Amino acid sequence: MNDTKKCPRNMVLSIFQRIGGDDAVESLVTLFLSRVFNDPNLHTFFSDISMAKQAEKQKSFLTMAFQGSSDDDGELMRESHARLLPLGMNDYHFDLVIKHLEASMYEVNVAPELIAEVLGVCESMREFILGRAPHK
Ligand code: HEM
Repeated sequence: MNDTKKCPRNMVLSIFQRIGGDDAVESLVTLFLSRVFNDPNLHTFFSDISMAKQAEKQKSFLTMAFQGSSDDDGELMRESHARLLPLGMNDYHFDLVIKHLEASMYEVNVAPELIAEVLGVCESMREFILGRAPHK
């Protein structure tokens, strides 16, 4: 039995590999980045973030989306998005970001089962990101 099936941390590697290695992930990051930052409906949240920070955000976003979320990650996601709630971030914006990720994955020919897997992980973070998950 393959260890990557048991260990969530190793899944980062396996999903990155299954996506098609560095080149595919690089194209995916570029596509996703331009979609999110060029979407006028998301502008409020990203306008004051530097390019360097934007690129960093995309990388950590994908790492998070590919590795799955532990309870700690959920709390981390709650904290890093908390300042966006008073700016009006809600389910509508969450759905837009996820749609951009989905479209970018289709564009670089990620297998539909893998797309479904990544979207499922993102969905599991919704309540944390929108600050609704109960505190432990
Ligand atoms: C499943 C969905 C999402 C994931 C996995 C995710 C992931 C992340 C990660 C890993 C960071 C970096 C955190 C850090 O280094 O402190 C981040 C920051 C950020 N995210 Fe998200 N995010 C998601 C949804 C959203 C949505 C829906 C929005 C806005 C509509 C958003 C806007 C931002 C912004 C603006 C930052 C930078 C915050 C700052 O530097 O102050 N994210 N996100």
